[in-house]
Amino acid sequence: MIYEYFEEIDSTNDELKRRASVGRCPEFTVVSAGTQTGGRGRSGHTWSSPAKSSVSTSMIFYPVDVDMIRLPRITPMAAVAVATAIEELYGLSAQIKWPNDVLLNGKKVCGILNEMIPGEDGRAAYVIVGIGVNVHIRDFPEEIAGIATSIDLELERIGSAFATHCEDVTKSIWEAFYRYFQSFLLTEDLSAVLDFYNERLINRGRRVRILDPKAPYEGEALCIDETGALHVMTDSGERIVDSGEVSVRGIGGYV
Ligand code: BTN
Repeated sequence: MIYEYFEEIDSTNDELKRRASVGRCPEFTVVSAGTQTGGRGRSGHTWSSPAKSSVSTSMIFYPVDVDMIRLPRITPMAAVAVATAIEELYGLSAQIKWPNDVLLNGKKVCGILNEMIPGEDGRAAYVIVGIGVNVHIRDFPEEIAGIATSIDLELERIGSAFATHCEDVTKSIWEAFYRYFQSFLLTEDLSAVLDFYNERLINRGRRVRILDPKAPYEGEALCIDETGALHVMTDSGERIVDSGEVSVRGIGGYV
C-alpha cells in the first residue's frame, strides 16, 4: 500500500479519480486528508471533514477479473474493516447499519462512499472506496447532532483515557480491509466477514421501514447474506433488499 497525506484537498475520492483517469495511480494507493473542501457522501450529499478531527481516506483498486455486479459487496466489507479497526484499537463495540454505516452507541461514526468507474465488457475500470470517520469531533451541526458521534465522544462516555490518532485509525482500517479484500477476490462474496457483520447488524431483529421509492414497506430485519442483501420478514413473507439506493430506517428513528 502507498500512503499519501494532504493537509487539505477537495475530496480524497476525487484525487484518486483524477490520477486514475490519466493512468497514473498504482493499485492500493491510499490518499488521506486533514480536511476536505468538497467531501462527498452517498446519494449526492456533502460530507463534512473538520480540520484534523476526522479521517478522510480513500483507496483505489483494479479488480479486473471480478464482474461489476459483485463489486458493491466491497462496501459492506469496508464497513467491517472500520468496525474491526475501531474495536481493535480502542476496545469499543461497533455496530453496522445496513448497508455500510458504522455506528458507536447507536450513532453514526463513519460513512463510506464506494465509486465504481465502468470500463468495458461489464468490468470496472477501477474502484475507489472512500471512508470518513469522526475521530475527535465534539460538536456536530444541529441537523445531525442526535444521530452522529465520534470515537473521542464515545471513549469519554465510558470513561476511557485512550488517546486517539487519525493516522492509527487510517492504517488499521486499510490493513483490515486489505486482508478481507484478499478473501473477496477468492470467493467474490462476503462469506469471510458475514458472521462479523451480522453480529453487529444494529437492525437485526428490529422492525424497519424499507424506503423503496416505488413502494415503501415494513418488516423485521433478519440478516444479510453473502451478496450483502438484507433479508426482511414482512407480513407477506421474506423479502430481499439489495438495491444500493434503498435505505432502511428504524421505526421512529435512524436505527
Ligand atoms: C456517507 O454519506 O455516509 C458517505 C460519506 C463518505 C465520506 C468519505 S470521506 C473520504 C472520501 N472522500 C469523499 O469525498 N467522500 C469519502
